[in-house]
Amino acid sequence: MKILILGDVCGEVGVKMLSKNLRNLQKKYNADLTIVNGENTAINGILPHHADEIFSAGADIITLGNHALDMNQIHDYIDDCRYMARPMNLPPQQPGEGFAKIEVQGKKVCVVPLLGRVHMGKFDYDDPFRMIDNFLKKDNSDIYIIDFHAETTSEKKAFSYYLDGRVSVIFGTHTHVQTADEQILPKGTGYITDVGMCGPYHSVLGVEKEQSVAKFCGNIVGRYRESKEAGYISGAVFELDNNGKCISVERFQEK
Ligand SMILES: [Fe+2]
Ligand SMILES: [Fe+2]
Repeated sequence: MKILILGDVCGEVGVKMLSKNLRNLQKKYNADLTIVNGENTAINGILPHHADEIFSAGADIITLGNHALDMNQIHDYIDDCRYMARPMNLPPQQPGEGFAKIEVQGKKVCVVPLLGRVHMGKFDYDDPFRMIDNFLKKDNSDIYIIDFHAETTSEKKAFSYYLDGRVSVIFGTHTHVQTADEQILPKGTGYITDVGMCGPYHSVLGVEKEQSVAKFCGNIVGRYRESKEAGYISGAVFELDNNGKCISVERFQEK
């Protein structure tokens, strides 16, 4: 089974990149399942029409991160859409489900987004380590894929070794910068610290670069504006054997 994963889609540029290129990428990598992190299509959050466009582009599952529910318009949508998952360790009263399940090649695949807690701004996220433990104990899927949405490489690496051999894939998101550490862990879990982003190349994580520079120089800049620069796509492809062990990982970036 080959799983194509694309990192945080940023703004209209990112959504259009997917609409234009995702089917070709699926063909190129023989993808059986496509997972896209969509938490930044509206920069802070996602709107229903973005989700529709990403699904129309070919995504099977949309994962989300710390900005999952920033847009009120997505709250009813996520309650109704079983193929879109918000982080499992958000407070339980918030809309949406913390996993998405889909059948692929006769196997029950479960995709779980979770938030890290180091330098993530808020501290009302449940412990992702304990939470995934409890979930794995009671769930009966065949294959688990985790989107670990976190800031620090240390928390991501620790989480990956904690789950090694118990899930098939852990891919990092949130930093929007692809890391060159794709690997198969000792007990067979495929891993990359961050798959990177899909969106404007000359931007600061998808935000207009001039505005971001001004902010870091101390100016009051207001709401983030999405960059309209030419886009690129970052992602990774994980191949699993019949037992759900990862047998190859390949990362890619395309302009
Ligand atoms: Fe993001
Ligand atoms: Fe994020």
